[in-house]
Amino acid sequence: MSRGVFVGIATVDVVHRLERPLRPNEKVTALRQDISAGGPAANAAVVFARLGGDATLVTALGRHPLARFAAEDLARHGVTVRDAAPDVVEPPAVSVIQVIDETGDRQVSSVNAGAFWARYPAQPPGGITDGADVVLVDGHHPDLARAAVRAEAPVVLDGGSWKPVLSDLLPSVDYAVCSSAFPEPESLEVPRVAVTRGPDPIRWWAGPERGEVQVPSVVVRDTLGAGDAFHGAFAYALTTGASFVEALTTGARVAALRCSVVGPRAWLEQL
Ligand SMILES: Nc1ncnc2c1ncn2[C@@H]1O[C@H](COP(=O)(O)OP(=O)(O)OP(=O)(O)O)[C@@H](O)[C@H]1O
Ligand SMILES: [Mg+2]
Repeated sequence: MSRGVFVGIATVDVVHRLERPLRPNEKVTALRQDISAGGPAANAAVVFARLGGDATLVTALGRHPLARFAAEDLARHGVTVRDAAPDVVEPPAVSVIQVIDETGDRQVSSVNAGAFWARYPAQPPGGITDGADVVLVDGHHPDLARAAVRAEAPVVLDGGSWKPVLSDLLPSVDYAVCSSAFPEPESLEVPRVAVTRGPDPIRWWAGPERGEVQVPSVVVRDTLGAGDAFHGAFAYALTTGASFVEALTTGARVAALRCSVVGPRAWLEQL
């Protein structure tokens, strides 16, 4: 069985589906709510597990009831959680998310790991990447990420945005799969780089070679975590011997399915 180690933030995501974006000072009734664990590495781990892999999430959660909720949601979706900060009693990061019914666009606010977890430097559990076939880091929890990229397995970076820890991580990264918000991906000294661009073709390069991968066209209902689904499927494909471009193609297929179904988890049943 493919073994994936995912290192990064686990959040609680509170998702409201709204008819349209809120105006200032407005109160509305949401069309539905979903509450689940979230975060790039956590969501990618869920997808990896669903595809048949053995997924471990290395994160910092603690024992607040909301943290327990996130850990239980991840366990229910087949992810083994290794908590590097099990004694923390404060609440984990909660992402507040609105998804717009007509377009599937998402708006997200979160405190992320930074300010809060800086006070709880998470100690990397020993041997976190032992036996891994692939390692994915999302750049949250810098101490954990620095330990993880020393793995022998291929290292995938989910490049969502620039973070200071990346200068330490990048020399060990084999695949950087970035969002279009990532600054100057062309300047990355990483063997293989891809940039996802929502519904537009994915750009990739590997040394002098470069190309594009088309994204399947679907009726878009919910784009929350599309990038995370992409990364989980990309990582899984690598463990099955897929080439870089084949893994990008798998990522695009899985992310398109994710976009076509409402809710953070319901789409997994069709995967
Ligand atoms: N409208 C869409 N139609 C089809 N596929 C989409 C669409 N939006 C996103 N995707 C798929 O998801 C992938 C990642 O999307 P995007 O680049 O928007 O991620 P992101 O910016 O990392 O966002 P996040 O991580 O928050 O989901 C795309 O490359 C594509 O494969
Ligand atoms: Mg992303």
